[in-house]
Amino acid sequence: MAQFTLPKNSKYTEGKSWPKPAGATNLQEFRIYRWNPDDGANPRIDTYYVDRDDCGPMVLDALIWIKNNVDSTLVFRRSCREGICGSCAMNIMGGNTLACTLGIDDCDGGAIKIYPLPHMPVLKDLVPDLTSFFAQHASIEPWLHTQTAEPETEWRQTPEERQQLDGLYECILCACCTTSCPSYWWNGDRFLGPAALLQAYRWLIDSRDESTGERLDNLHDPFRLYRCHTIMNCANTCPKGLNPAKAIAEIKKMMIARVV
Ligand code: SF4
Ligand code: SF4
Ligand code: FES
Repeated sequence: MAQFTLPKNSKYTEGKSWPKPAGATNLQEFRIYRWNPDDGANPRIDTYYVDRDDCGPMVLDALIWIKNNVDSTLVFRRSCREGICGSCAMNIMGGNTLACTLGIDDCDGGAIKIYPLPHMPVLKDLVPDLTSFFAQHASIEPWLHTQTAEPETEWRQTPEERQQLDGLYECILCACCTTSCPSYWWNGDRFLGPAALLQAYRWLIDSRDESTGERLDNLHDPFRLYRCHTIMNCANTCPKGLNPAKAIAEIKKMMIARVV
């Protein structure tokens, strides 16, 4: 029978409960994962209270409020605060999503629980190590491959050809889908995962790209592509409403089409 052991120091403990803001009457409780690689301690869950009357409406606003007003050591990534950069992806109330596009009122009452994206090494607090995720994205060579001479102006597409990229080009590489995928949890070193495969399909069906065969060769592997078992967590969690599982199914169809 398979036996599993948790890595040393992986079990989290109850952390500090920070004081409630003085005079606040409209409070929201947050329970947030904390881990510092430098102190040798186990991860802990700290409790914070945010004054809703002094804070913006989104979960990211609350994290920034905590950092500015309560605990400046809390570490998380963010940049655009409007769902474009993908850097504030984290696990909130059990689902992977963007902190900047999730309203505090949309988290079902009670304490709001926040963890880093699952099944990735943690660098500190809510910041996962995405080195492998971006290396996998780079491995599908996400740029236009052409063999014919370059046109004088631009590579043209008809409106219909351009439409083929809808539902794909919008991906912001937030990693919510890949880190929600059970197949990726078990085989993340060899399975490319939904985000990289959605991007692979984006280049496969680009009418201007001339490396379709090479791109399919690159994916033809029992692990890189075929570890997807259509569990659909990826499509259910994508904060941009994209469907990586469908893109993966389309790649599998292209694989079959070229051998029949
Ligand atoms: S559909 Fe495939 S890629 Fe998406 S979560 Fe399931 S196994 Fe992972
Ligand atoms: S497909 Fe969606 S969840 Fe996955 S990386 Fe792109 S935007 Fe994020
Ligand atoms: S801060 Fe850029 S997507 Fe949330």
